[in-house]
Amino acid sequence: MPQENQPLMNRNERRAEWEARYRDGPRPWDTGITPPEVVAFWQEQPPRPQGLCIDIGCGTGTNAAYLAGLGLTAVGVDLSLNALALSQQRRETLPPAVRQRLNFAQADVSRLPFQKANAVYMLDIGCFHAIPGDARRDYANGVVQNLAAGGHFHLYAFDKLPEEKADPDARGLGETEVIDLFTPALSVVDIVRARPDRRPCRWYLLRKDG
Ligand SMILES: C[S@@+](CC[C@H](N)C(=O)[O-])C[C@H]1O[C@@H](n2cnc3c(N)ncnc32)[C@H](O)[C@@H]1O
Repeated sequence: MPQENQPLMNRNERRAEWEARYRDGPRPWDTGITPPEVVAFWQEQPPRPQGLCIDIGCGTGTNAAYLAGLGLTAVGVDLSLNALALSQQRRETLPPAVRQRLNFAQADVSRLPFQKANAVYMLDIGCFHAIPGDARRDYANGVVQNLAAGGHFHLYAFDKLPEEKADPDARGLGETEVIDLFTPALSVVDIVRARPDRRPCRWYLLRKDG
């Protein structure tokens, strides 16, 4: 993975970096623990959730597996084949009923391989802030088009640092960029500063009204 403060690279270089990080490490984000913010969201929903969820930039599939375990049908999407191989290994360890509800696909998240998927939940932990400025509008369109009415988009992203404000390809997002890209198609439910990570970061919860 590119260093947190390093300018973004071209598509092939980025993919090669992610492949290397999943092959050789280190990958400090890959804790194997679903964040408490995601757990809390689902604890507040009615029991026995159903429907499709999409984990965008799923890495080794920790969170897609968690969502499938709740009863949702989960699809994890990632650019890295090495990450997806680890996801498949995780899938093999799960009970058959959960395994049946869990699938993975290789794709670029700015060109999601779905059309009007009607997902009840789309999750992105640490992927969107890593894609370049010129791909972000396509990414946002993919989320809006594939979310069901009433569905939620849950995003964890690094903040854009003050010194990066003029750089469209800098890693990180500003609140106004998220609002510009996703509203009014989605409405903002909540934006909260996350527990300090490798850099300042936030959780965004958006909803498609229907
Ligand atoms: C910081 S990791 C987070 C992985 C996972 N969400 C987690 O929490 O463990 C970011 C992930 O986004 C993926 N990624 C980065 N750019 C991508 C793109 N354009 N399309 C698909 N996946 C991408 C990387 O391969 C990596 O798995």
